[in-house]
Amino acid sequence: MPNLRNEPHERGVDTHSLFPPVTHDHPVTAQGRRLVDVDRLDERRVIEVDTQEHGVLAVGMTPDGTPFATSNLCRHQFAKLGRGRVTDDGCLQCPWHRADYDVKSGAMKNGPKGRIFGFKPYSSMFKLFGNVAKLRTFDVEVRNGAIWLV
Ligand code: FES
Repeated sequence: MPNLRNEPHERGVDTHSLFPPVTHDHPVTAQGRRLVDVDRLDERRVIEVDTQEHGVLAVGMTPDGTPFATSNLCRHQFAKLGRGRVTDDGCLQCPWHRADYDVKSGAMKNGPKGRIFGFKPYSSMFKLFGNVAKLRTFDVEVRNGAIWLV
């Protein structure tokens, strides 16, 4: 049974923690440039991966099968994006207030949502910020059933 105590912003990502998702949640460890097996991805389609070269990344796959890897820190209040999910239209969505990121450019496509942070001027301001301070993106490919850094 999902714990919905941390759902004040209707984010829809389950957590068993009392705390917001600003900490890592047991990232998998990359083997060199091999980041993660595709079958490790669940219905959220993204996972945290600890790499030697770049630290912990958000690594996943869009519904059309395109792999991606981005930096892991939401530009709003620093939630770990690898604990979020990939939306049906292929955006990486923050697990806390559901800002959406373009996984190719790293830009924020939609600002924070919810009763408090979804206030339009506030949300739009963060979207502007998220388009200046984009996520880092990394070139990846699928090979032998895994996502690899190119
Ligand atoms: S921390 Fe990501 S949208 Fe608020």
